Amino acid sequence: MICYRQEVSIENVCATCCYKVEPGDPNPLFLEEAGRVLRAGGTVAFPTETVYGLGADATNPAAISRIFAAKGRPLDNPLIVHIADWHQIDMLTLKAPPALYELGRRFWPGPLTLVVPRHPDVPPEVSAGLPTVAVRWPAHPVAEALIRAAGVPLAAPSANRSGKPSPTNAEHVKQDLEGMIDVILDGGPTGVGVESTVLDLTRTPPMILRPGGVTREMLEEVLGPVDTAAGLENETDPPPSPGMKYRHYAPDSPLVLLEGEPREMVEQARRVLGRVHAEGRRAGLLGSREMLEELPSGDGGPDFRCSLGSREDLEQVAANLYQALRLTDEMRLDLVLVESFPERGIGAAIMNRLRRAAFR
Ligand code: TXA
Ligand code: MG
Repeated sequence: MICYRQEVSIENVCATCCYKVEPGDPNPLFLEEAGRVLRAGGTVAFPTETVYGLGADATNPAAISRIFAAKGRPLDNPLIVHIADWHQIDMLTLKAPPALYELGRRFWPGPLTLVVPRHPDVPPEVSAGLPTVAVRWPAHPVAEALIRAAGVPLAAPSANRSGKPSPTNAEHVKQDLEGMIDVILDGGPTGVGVESTVLDLTRTPPMILRPGGVTREMLEEVLGPVDTAAGLENETDPPPSPGMKYRHYAPDSPLVLLEGEPREMVEQARRVLGRVHAEGRRAGLLGSREMLEELPSGDGGPDFRCSLGSREDLEQVAANLYQALRLTDEMRLDLVLVESFPERGIGAAIMNRLRRAAFR
């Protein structure tokens, strides 16, 4: 069933077709059409288990440039190449380290991206000229079926305008990219909610460039100790990953990260709210259900509150995070207070994104 086809008459603005697909049983006609668009050098947004991606043929430099143009992405920020078959590894790297196969067998398909030496035939545009390429096999039936329908690996960053929170449903993709891309496959909300872990296998020991759904603890079970780039953003030039130098996941209003024990965060929030209200301004609060119970709205409380789920369920918090950041934009607040979460498991990814969203 076709969700809709928007007719746009303005010259040079393309229409974006949106197809609704059942995640467990995507309509083969829509996949075939999206595959045809990709082979012809077009762009297709699609769901993965983490966030929506904006895909193009990773072997076609002109197609890759359309991704950068649609997103407004800096040209020096490389893309992840998505595969759905072990044979596609050989198209992307000549020197796959053994760790790629060890990790791949354990975590693929899944939210893990591995940086390896780039095959000379892979267009340098994919990797912004770096000698490496980032590879991931996503665990989503629509993503896997699309890669197979296209018949080529797909370069795909998150399907948001550069600097905005990544999209966790097709509506977010439309908000940011409608009219600038060819097709959206709407497979409903994504699961993990934050982007994949990026692990650089060209370093010894391997280095986590971005924390995500596959946690440090899980990687170390397979590899032994790994490094992390956390905190190295301003320490090395260039930074370990080009993406680290850009402010990401940014809501429109300034974001203040509350820190400390839950009780201290509540006290800190009350102090900031007092100051903000004394100046006649409006502040919102993003936090756990438990924190929201401590800080009801009205009577000096937050002017807008959004629950991320229980503090005890960090997976749920991760799944709700980007939707909540986008909601705060709609509320046009002067300031947004956000709770901090423990940095264990997926909490490391949550805090990595919040710190970067809070950075001005
Ligand atoms: O979950 C995900 O990874 C999603 C879905 C769509 O797969 N994709 C995603 O892509 O988040 P993107 O482009 O938004 O983030 C890719 C990150 C950036 O921080 C980029 O700098 C880094 O990966 N990266 C890509 N290639 C790299 C390379 N060769 N070396 C170092 N970092 C790289
Ligand atoms: Mg992104």
